[in-house]
Amino acid sequence: MNDTFLKACRGEAVPYTPIWIMRQAGRYLPEYHTVRDKFTFLELCKTPEAAAEVSMQPVDILGVDAAILFSDILVPMEKMGAPLDFLENRGPVFAHPIRDAAAVDRLVVPDPELELTYVLDTIRILRRELADKVPLIGFSGAPFTLATYLIEGGGSRTFWHTKQMMYQAPELYRKLLEKITACTINYLQAQAAAGAQALQIFDSWVGVLAPDDYAEFALPYVQWLVRALKETGVPVIYFANNGATLLEMAKTSGADVLGVDWRVSIDDAVARLGQDVSLQGNLDPVALLLPEDRLATRVERIIAQGRKARGHIFNLGHGIQPETPVEKAKLLVQLVHELSGKGRA
Ligand code: CP3
Repeated sequence: MNDTFLKACRGEAVPYTPIWIMRQAGRYLPEYHTVRDKFTFLELCKTPEAAAEVSMQPVDILGVDAAILFSDILVPMEKMGAPLDFLENRGPVFAHPIRDAAAVDRLVVPDPELELTYVLDTIRILRRELADKVPLIGFSGAPFTLATYLIEGGGSRTFWHTKQMMYQAPELYRKLLEKITACTINYLQAQAAAGAQALQIFDSWVGVLAPDDYAEFALPYVQWLVRALKETGVPVIYFANNGATLLEMAKTSGADVLGVDWRVSIDDAVARLGQDVSLQGNLDPVALLLPEDRLATRVERIIAQGRKARGHIFNLGHGIQPETPVEKAKLLVQLVHELSGKGRA
């Protein structure tokens, strides 16, 4: 089994730097569109055979060192009682945003074994198909990021409604976050039980918070979540996107690995975080458009800096853009492997 990724998560010695790519199963791959054309996005998430096929694509096509479950962070919110839709060119939409006490009270904490069976089935199929070729990553959204979608009813620029609830109805906000966290704990524990070998928590929007608000309104729920996941024994990756100013606090989440976006250098992250946590990242996704020699220089720099960390998993600093040529993604995987010593005696 290629367990380079899992070893790097735990800070064990590795023969080369492992790489996977956030959003590696997705629209930049023509093979994804072939499958996706037969379903809506949510139908695809709910059809385990097809979802597993899409997860396998980047493993086969790019040669990455880990697979990630094909699903979406918002899928469990639907089972909490918030009807979800994905609109073409607009992204996720909750038709009934959660903004008052009655709406929060109506939300339920679903039993993933009963209500999210399709996710667990996808994981079971993937473990069989991967046959230990590379490890499988399960994932969820972080409580704050999930709450923003429920409260705003979709994406947002100012997060007006979220911050309004935080500042004007903090008790209600806390009640909502507690419910989301309870749901997420059960969900990720079930993913690990079904066979996920690492768990990534995506905090995509946390960078909109002032540090004090992060400490009060987001971090405690991540700490609670990570603590509850310790008993699964699988490594936990916490990715606080746009969180360069929050890194030291993010470390107190207790996660085994911290995701780092491209706005901070890995050198800086190591200096600030020390030797008791592994790092994942952090090439700017659009830097894949650089000419090959300049891309190689950047990749080499990130690998060299990553060697100073307890463990380093190469990744982009956020998800790969749908417009990215597949050849560039293949080149990146090849460069990371070659420049970090794969195949060398
Ligand atoms: O390859 C993988 O990483 C696994 C699959 C995956 C998807 N979404 C599939 C997807 C993962 C890990 C996610 C996480 C996710 N979803 C996040 C966190 C990561 C991040 O980017 O910050 C967020 C914020 C979402 C919410 C979401 N889902 C949005 C805002 C959108 C619309 C915009 C977009 O990127 O398309 C989605 C849709 C979505 N999720 C698609 C895919 C492949 C596109 C759906 C399609 O085929 O039309």
